[in-house]
Amino acid sequence: MKIFLDTANVAELREGVAIGVVDGCTTNPSLIAKEKRPFRPLVEEICSIVPGDVSLEVVALDFEGMVKEGKELAQIAPNVVVKCPLTKDGLKAVRRLSGEGIRVNQTLCFSPTQALLSAKAGATYISPFLGRLDDIAHVGMDLVRDICEIYRNYGFTTQVLAASIRNPLHVVDAAKAGAHVATMPFGVLEQLMKHPLTDIGLKKFLDDWNKASAKH
Ligand code: E4P
Repeated sequence: MKIFLDTANVAELREGVAIGVVDGCTTNPSLIAKEKRPFRPLVEEICSIVPGDVSLEVVALDFEGMVKEGKELAQIAPNVVVKCPLTKDGLKAVRRLSGEGIRVNQTLCFSPTQALLSAKAGATYISPFLGRLDDIAHVGMDLVRDICEIYRNYGFTTQVLAASIRNPLHVVDAAKAGAHVATMPFGVLEQLMKHPLTDIGLKKFLDDWNKASAKH
């Protein structure tokens, strides 16, 4: 499973990439706005830091606007994947952009029917939002499992990108479901590495080593 960072913060991206386990990045208008930097230099820097795909989202709501913006975003760097929302116009834009060789991540997916249509339209990635479903007392992971099953049944090549991940259990369950990618905040990536028994074990090893060294 690929790991993407769900952030537009270049310090977090540099740190994640330096660890060597970050394959890509997803952004959205909220994450970009949080950085309080001009859009173009920010996303150019992100694309230069991240080794793999970087999702940049359109803000237009209509088909023509999404296609125009998508083409402009795709020119920024070869690793840009255009993000379009899962609306009727968004599906049309996915069909048009993917037909022209531009890769699209279809975002704000909340149902298996939306995901089926997105795959048929030619999306490179589908982004089911787990956390936001959990927030309204729906089991977000059920959606990931359903999409993986439907895509497997028909051999769709659209990759399932588990999004709106809030905790390590989301990552484990997405991996068990067979999601191709999990995108997560930097804090969740840090949680994935940690275990108290690792810290306790390490302390004991070093204490024992220091005691023994002192005897010689
Ligand atoms: C990623 O592509 C999404 O924009 C992101 O995961 C949304 O996460 P949130 O629900 O925590 O805002």
